[in-house]
Amino acid sequence: MDNLKDKVAVITGGNSGIGYATAKQLKEQGAQVIITGRRKEAIEKAAQELGVTAVTADQASVSDIENLVAKVKEDFGAVDILFINAGIAGLGTIEQTSEELYDSIMNVNLKGAYFTLSKFIPILKDGASVVFLSSNTASMPGPGSSVYSASKTALNSVMKSAALELAPRKIRVNSVSPGPTETEVMKKVGLDEATVNGIMDVVVEKVPLKQMGKSEDVAKMVAYVSSEAAKFITGSDFIMDGGMVLA
Ligand SMILES: NC(=O)c1ccc[n+]([C@@H]2O[C@H](COP(=O)([O-])OP(=O)(O)OC[C@H]3O[C@@H](n4cnc5c(N)ncnc54)[C@H](OP(=O)(O)O)[C@@H]3O)[C@@H](O)[C@H]2O)c1
Repeated sequence: MDNLKDKVAVITGGNSGIGYATAKQLKEQGAQVIITGRRKEAIEKAAQELGVTAVTADQASVSDIENLVAKVKEDFGAVDILFINAGIAGLGTIEQTSEELYDSIMNVNLKGAYFTLSKFIPILKDGASVVFLSSNTASMPGPGSSVYSASKTALNSVMKSAALELAPRKIRVNSVSPGPTETEVMKKVGLDEATVNGIMDVVVEKVPLKQMGKSEDVAKMVAYVSSEAAKFITGSDFIMDGGMVLA
């Protein structure tokens, strides 16, 4: 399991959930991994557990992204795998959504993801892999999550433009779009555990395979898309949602 041996991989938002699981997976496959997060203590704790490098950087801040790129360049030179994973959820109807909620989601999920790619391009190796963490909601927008869905739909559009712009350098750009996946993200929107569990029960009913996704499975997909086996894949979105998008 060392088919990513010595590859340099940057993962934004690596202190929990899918980012954490992917850092573990890429490290197991031999990569040198750098994880980022807003909260210094949380990101350093996660990095210590995983045996990877931590850099504190807020994806919503372009100057933090520039500092991250400078630090990675100084310490690692160039990047083989860029996994733009950090993202936040937020619920509310269009009528209820405040400007603050709109900006907070868009600034991390879209603007931050966009400028992470933009600023890393000069230090991506030719032949590198870029993966955006999108969502199945990009393909099936529903009520109550319009800003989140819009952020991920726009991300998929950026992914396709980037795949074309970077193809001359053989840099591949793809996205992975999970459905409901067991991570901490729902608890962070301010709901208590019982409410989260109630929502999850309703959601699982809508999944043809009748289960939640696992971070580890998303991590394996990111590793695959970034491996030699996927060298002819670019501009693709991989939906991992137990068939939910079809139902
Ligand atoms: N879980 C799902 O059901 C699901 C489904 C589809 C797509 N997704 C997407 O998957 C991605 C990962 O989410 P997750 O489910 O693994 O949730 P998670 O456990 O909350 O992980 C999100 C990670 O991103 C970090 N992060 C958030 N905002 C950041 C910022 N401004 N700058 C840097 N890091 C930031 C978080 O750090 P903090 O702990 O400091 O906030 C955390 O490490 C997100 O893009 C999410 O939209 C999740």
